[in-house]
Amino acid sequence: MTEFSVKINVGKGYEVRIGSSLLDDCGNIIAKTTSLCRVAVITDSNVEKLYLDKVIKSLQQAGFDTLSFSFPAGEESKNISTLSDILEFLAENNFSRTDMLIALGGGVTGDITGFAAAVYLRGIRYVQLPTTLLAAVDSSVGGKTAIDLKAGKNLAGAFKQPEIVLCDISTFETLPETEFSNGIAESIKYGILFDKPLFDAFASSDLSSNRLTGDKLTDVIAKCVAHKGRIVELDEFDNGDRRLLNLGHTIGHAIEKCSSFKIQHGHAVAAGMAMIARAGEKKGLTKEGTANEISQALAKYALPIDTDFDIDELNAVTLTDKKRAGKKIALIVPEETGKCIIKTEPVEALREYITLGKGV
Ligand SMILES: NC(=O)c1ccc[n+]([C@@H]2O[C@H](COP(=O)([O-])OP(=O)(O)OC[C@H]3O[C@@H](n4cnc5c(N)ncnc54)[C@H](O)[C@@H]3O)[C@@H](O)[C@H]2O)c1
Ligand SMILES: [Zn+2]
Repeated sequence: MTEFSVKINVGKGYEVRIGSSLLDDCGNIIAKTTSLCRVAVITDSNVEKLYLDKVIKSLQQAGFDTLSFSFPAGEESKNISTLSDILEFLAENNFSRTDMLIALGGGVTGDITGFAAAVYLRGIRYVQLPTTLLAAVDSSVGGKTAIDLKAGKNLAGAFKQPEIVLCDISTFETLPETEFSNGIAESIKYGILFDKPLFDAFASSDLSSNRLTGDKLTDVIAKCVAHKGRIVELDEFDNGDRRLLNLGHTIGHAIEKCSSFKIQHGHAVAAGMAMIARAGEKKGLTKEGTANEISQALAKYALPIDTDFDIDELNAVTLTDKKRAGKKIALIVPEETGKCIIKTEPVEALREYITLGKGV
């Protein structure tokens, strides 16, 4: 099977490798990028059972001295208490500045491990081993790390780039269907944002509606990672073009919140992307037919393209979003598939977008 490597030129730069037996080889690969040291593999309770032994074995065979720490799976664990437990665990084990963390898992594990790496002894190195499609195409690349606070998601964190990212697609075989489709939604997002051929492949029979595997999957991930890498290189600290990656996310976050997070992130973002395209068309910002194209591509992967929550509810939760800067909101609107713009609007305008976006 083909293996891909994408270079991310931020800071001293790092490689993202995408292949099908990278967990077995992770020890040797990591040993080539860093000198041998102690490593602590941080993982969650689901991934621990599936892949921790394999990773520890590979690291030990390569000569690393290993420790591991596992926390209960789920977003509820992405908090200050788990972060504190990880930091105390490292300190109890006399982890030093030359030692390294390894995040083995989805976005929750990647985000909290990255944050622990950013703050432990004022910063130590870490590696990402993403095991969800969402983590592969999104959270493992770009250096955003975070925990949630009571007031909202991702409200405390740091920018901290990993040493290397190894994405072994064989781990996705054990992913539940809805977790896989979360990642597909974020992958289609890159197509809508930057890559018409990628979008068209999702929309057409080039990529089947069944679960992607093999070379087709590695190819899609490599393209998404390259797009994310290019945007992060342009705007590491998220003040400019990196905001484009929020396509579908303003309305998507509102849907997630209204559902008390029962609707998963990728599914909510899918509905958000279809809705903003529909609103864009009605406002004359988006080429006619685009909303339909987007909706059809998302529906092909059983992703939602609308929401039942009412306009007032959606608007109200968005207005309380702690991350909103002042009285303006930056909305990402497709002009057509493969090309989007950042439209800065007064927050009051959001209600109109939601209203126009609703209703298939
Ligand atoms: N840092 C960023 O730039 C960024 C970007 C997007 C999302 N995120 C964050 O990522 C998180 C979502 O990531 P996620 O969807 O990967 O969530 P997750 O880490 O909770 O993983 C989803 C579920 O899948 C399980 N799992 C993971 N790998 C598995 C495998 N191979 N087989 C079976 N089960 C497996 C996990 O235990 C969990 O139950 C959110 O906290 C979000 O804020 C961060
Ligand atoms: Zn997202």
